[in-house]
Amino acid sequence: MEEVISKKRIFSGIQPTNTPTLGNYLGALINWVKLQDDYECTYSIVDLHSITVRQDPAKLKKQILESYSLLLAMGVDPEKSTAFVQSHNCQHAELAWILSCYTQFGELSRMTQFKDKSAKHPENINAGLFTYPVLMAADILLYQADLVPVGQDQKQHLELSRDIAVRFNNIYGDVFKVPDPYIPKTAAKIASLQDPTKKMSKSDENPNASISVLDDRDTIIRKFKRAVTDSDTVVKYAEGKDGINNLMSIYSAVTGKTYEEIEKEFDGKGYGDFKLAVGEATADRLAPIQAEYARLAADKKYIEECMKLGAEKAFKTTRKTLQKVYKKVGFIVI
Ligand code: TYM
Repeated sequence: MEEVISKKRIFSGIQPTNTPTLGNYLGALINWVKLQDDYECTYSIVDLHSITVRQDPAKLKKQILESYSLLLAMGVDPEKSTAFVQSHNCQHAELAWILSCYTQFGELSRMTQFKDKSAKHPENINAGLFTYPVLMAADILLYQADLVPVGQDQKQHLELSRDIAVRFNNIYGDVFKVPDPYIPKTAAKIASLQDPTKKMSKSDENPNASISVLDDRDTIIRKFKRAVTDSDTVVKYAEGKDGINNLMSIYSAVTGKTYEEIEKEFDGKGYGDFKLAVGEATADRLAPIQAEYARLAADKKYIEECMKLGAEKAFKTTRKTLQKVYKKVGFIVI
């Protein structure tokens, strides 16, 4: 019992906007699974976040189910950890409103993801897209998370969450734990296979740019074969070799080999051999997840039960924080 109480807390989320990519897996999800034994973990399919960009309702519903099932297939244990769908716990939206009154317009204007997404969707620069980082802060602070395992692209949002927590605590006393990011060393920013200066993204229109965790073996190998590299021939991690550096970080993350070991392994061999090896190792790594996903996807009843369990556990955990916040700001808690 004591051990459970003393465990540190983790929260993280993923948007169900498309099938997760290899970037999502290596940058974040792989750590979600690893951290479960040593921390009290809560993981969420953040559907509220995903409607900041217009979604087709039928597709979104399918994607929420798929993303949730994939979390379990990757090894998130719904008994040991809390795995839930964000909209199943209404307290996220409630805390987000309160925190939005403690977040400045200027702070939100500086968020690079807001600037990028507004440029990408000029026809739909909605208020939700602007206040998105406040909802993200609410997600994290509601669970009093100590650590947040994310990829590099979420660092700025994490910093804002910390600023909001500190500001609120300075006014009202010790209400929120101030969370630290947990960013992996090698796979924090997996790049697009077609433009290695850009991050690999679920929403990339070019299907060759990203690997979906559900891509079949042939597709994975084909996409790696087509990956954009450079005119050099030596497999070496070096400045100016963004494409090769990216493939090396993928190969290192899926095999556990160091860059030095990889350079030795491909000494005297060409890019073709290396790309094939990265494709095969990635396919090998994803195969058991895909098999488990196929099994789980056929069992909708089990998935629904897990979702319900997750929602109940999440609600119970966050009730305390939200009531404390309500009291602190002067609301009447009945
Ligand atoms: P999302 O859905 O874009 O991505 C989920 C996780 O995957 C990481 N990631 C990557 N890591 C390495 N290389 C890449 N190419 C790559 N692409 C994505 C992301 O950093 C993320 O960790 N705003 C978040 C979701 C969210 C959240 C939260 C995260 C909502 N509330 C609270 C943590 C805590 C997002 O859009 O992630």
